Amino acid sequence: MHILLTGGTGLLGRALCAALLADGHQLSVLSRRPHKVAALCGPGVQALVSLDDWLPDMHFDAVINLAGAPIIDLPWTTARKQTLWASRITLTEQLVTALQRAERKPAVLLSGSAIGIYGDCAEAPCSDSAAVPNPAPADFAAQLCAAWETAARQASTPDTRVSLLRTGLVLAPHGGLLARMRLPFRLGLGARLGDGQQWMSWIHLDDWVAAVLHLLAQPDAHGACNLTAPQPVRNADFSAALANCFGRRVHLAAPASVLRLLLGQRAGLLLDSQRVLPDRLLATGYAFRHPELRSALQSLS
Ligand SMILES: NC(=O)c1ccc[n+]([C@@H]2O[C@H](COP(=O)([O-])OP(=O)(O)OC[C@H]3O[C@@H](n4cnc5c(N)ncnc54)[C@H](OP(=O)(O)O)[C@@H]3O)[C@@H](O)[C@H]2O)c1
Repeated sequence: MHILLTGGTGLLGRALCAALLADGHQLSVLSRRPHKVAALCGPGVQALVSLDDWLPDMHFDAVINLAGAPIIDLPWTTARKQTLWASRITLTEQLVTALQRAERKPAVLLSGSAIGIYGDCAEAPCSDSAAVPNPAPADFAAQLCAAWETAARQASTPDTRVSLLRTGLVLAPHGGLLARMRLPFRLGLGARLGDGQQWMSWIHLDDWVAAVLHLLAQPDAHGACNLTAPQPVRNADFSAALANCFGRRVHLAAPASVLRLLLGQRAGLLLDSQRVLPDRLLATGYAFRHPELRSALQSLS
């Protein structure tokens, strides 16, 4: 297949490109850094500088939309929120317009989303087969995900199926969440967050990539799909398991009040409880390589 990706140069995109190339697909990557595409995504991967480069007579069999400015790194000022919004929602709207202009439509759009769409669910399990209530106006992360999904759904027609990748916390050998946590936990300075009772829904990078390939190949996979391991854990258990990888124990706690003071609204990304279950992936026969946290972490340390 000839596949167009956005965000192909990112943590998830690079791993996905490697797997797609290994499967023999031809790739084009839309990037603000076209000169880096071949080095980051693989030899032979074509760079697109702008969606205007997608001429109506060009055909892509599939489109995978992962672009988005990093969400936790910088304070959510008005300007930053605009960047987070434009890099996901505006870009997805432009992508859908280009897709609709194409003379031959791609058979599938796999479009990014995140488990942040569920907001703070406390103990309630979050299934992808249930409707998501409208996000609270103050929950920017949930609003962002909901609008991102709405924009992508506009591409859905009898010719093009749309599948929404509700990604959990991805555990990768380099980069992402673990890159931030490894050093303090290795030094015995890891802390549980708040009371540590909030649920964390994680997924190993290998499973994330394999699940996306699985969805690409499933002609019946429409709509939201949770990309999370089947065994979410509480933050206290996650912290203990990570500390254990380094022969450490967790003695510290970062109080919720301090996190809210330091991070403002972004503290919700650490403190909200999301007990997400991959119901649709399991129903379509996906078998997780790393269903259990401790062995997933050991494979990455
Ligand atoms: N990693 C996770 O744990 C996780 C969890 C849930 C959801 N997600 C979502 O999945 C997607 C991929 O995640 P990732 O970890 O691979 O992200 P990443 O490493 O930060 O890469 C995202 C890519 O998006 C593009 N991008 C960044 N800022 C942009 C901007 N201002 N405007 C347009 N494009 C921009 C970049 O591509 P170019 O520089 O080539 O343009 C970048 O390579 C993201 O949208 C993220 O929100 C990730």
